[in-house]
Amino acid sequence: MTLEEFRLEVKKLKNSGKYPSRKSYLLPALWIAEKNFPQINSEMIKIIAEELEIPLVEVEEVARFYAMFHTERKGNFVIRVCTNLSCMLNGGEEILKEFCRLLGISPGETTPDGMFTVESYECMGLCDGAPAVTVNEERFSKVKVEDVPKILKKFGWKG
Ligand code: FES
Repeated sequence: MTLEEFRLEVKKLKNSGKYPSRKSYLLPALWIAEKNFPQINSEMIKIIAEELEIPLVEVEEVARFYAMFHTERKGNFVIRVCTNLSCMLNGGEEILKEFCRLLGISPGETTPDGMFTVESYECMGLCDGAPAVTVNEERFSKVKVEDVPKILKKFGWKG
């Protein structure tokens, strides 16, 4: 199954009228991903969030909570760069590119040593500090491209 086919399946499920609320489609949608892919990754989680209009973090929490779902293994440090409107207008995309360039990976990927995963993320509620980045639980606001190596070094990047 391709990601586009997956999106169509989730749409079909949502339009089936089987369940009382949007949120009740979440587990069945995750099952579609589980059955058709070796692992549930951030792209699938994003598709479910978009199609069911459920916040991305909620879909992610549910997917990771249940042991029956095999979610993608992530690095020790998960770097999330917000690319929603406020952050995008303040350089979020450039920040994301710089993390990826320095680590030699694309958004959604993990470095071969398992240290870092970089993800483009939805609004984190830190818009007044745009562009915003989180590394695991730690938050960084008003990040500039030149801050990126400093942030990485803080988490053990040898560069
Ligand atoms: S738009 Fe980036 S934190 Fe809200």
